[in-house]
Amino acid sequence: MAVLFLLLIYFSAGEAHTIRALVGDDVTLSVDTQTSSFIGEAIVEWSRTDLHPDIVHLQDNRLTIYEHQNPAYRGRTMLSAEDLDRGIISLKLSNVRLADEGNYTCLFKSTENMYTVHLLVGAASSPVITLEAYTRSGLVLGCRAKGWYPQPKLSWWNADGHLLSAVTMTTTQDPDGLYNISSTLVVERKSPNRHLTCRVHQELFNQTRETEIHLPENLFRVLKQFYLKSYGFLAASLVFLLAALVILVIACRTVHGNSQKQKDMMVMSCQNEDLKT
Ligand SMILES: *[C@@H]1O[C@H](CO)[C@@H](O)[C@H](O)[C@H]1NC(C)=O
Ligand SMILES: *[C@@H]1O[C@H](CO)[C@@H](O)[C@H](O)[C@H]1NC(C)=O
Ligand SMILES: *[C@@H]1O[C@H](CO)[C@@H](O)[C@H](O)[C@H]1NC(C)=O
Repeated sequence: MAVLFLLLIYFSAGEAHTIRALVGDDVTLSVDTQTSSFIGEAIVEWSRTDLHPDIVHLQDNRLTIYEHQNPAYRGRTMLSAEDLDRGIISLKLSNVRLADEGNYTCLFKSTENMYTVHLLVGAASSPVITLEAYTRSGLVLGCRAKGWYPQPKLSWWNADGHLLSAVTMTTTQDPDGLYNISSTLVVERKSPNRHLTCRVHQELFNQTRETEIHLPENLFRVLKQFYLKSYGFLAASLVFLLAALVILVIACRTVHGNSQKQKDMMVMSCQNEDLKT
């Protein structure tokens, strides 16, 4: 499901303004021309000087001129006619991409005024918890989240809200700039922690996504029995997998950055593809 939010920011000529949006969002870049008259018939040009061609959206007398538009923006831009009639130039940019990050200049031909909006783009997705292994020291859980921007932080928490120490923590970056982060945690047999949360947080965009896992009491009993009978590694792995399949029910709760909460019950792994379908 798409988390959609529109940001509206008005400002006057001269000042540069920063707007943040997440990949996949629709965002509105707005400038107030402070002309009380209708400007619907005006010539308005949005551009990015770092691109070639540099036109993001060009409009003349309510008509969009596509001829010189940068192909990356084709079909994704729209000027609000309603806002134009209030003296406000609102460019709606849909399905924001990482490459949309940059400085947007709006030229209002009637007054020759220039306005600049700095668009910062972030990306977030829900983490997924997996069962990695059952070893002498306990159950190894993995948590990974993909496609974040800028670089996020991952942490494990118990039900009492105490931070747990991860065994491993790995961050990788794709050529297009997106980060994957993954971590493992060992839950000892005698550990009182049966309800665990993997949280991924990005400070600049104030984005938090978390996934919870509940480990039933009998999971450890079953795993231990098979482990102690030492059928060998292969058998143990097989049994581990079967036991996990049969017994484990994971309760997943994803907290979305903007205080929307939802609860899903899933078996085995908590996949929450909250980006576009
Ligand atoms: C946008 O402008 C700011 C300063 O106004 C500059 O620091 C930044 O590097 C520019 N960003 C891009 C992508 O050109
Ligand atoms: C990040 O994760 C995705 C999906 O799991 C994968 O396709 C991609 O190769 C990963 N990128 C890096 C740099 O590890
Ligand atoms: C970050 O978002 C949370 C809600 O998800 C909110 O309660 C908090 O105040 C925000 N923090 C900042 C610094 O904006």
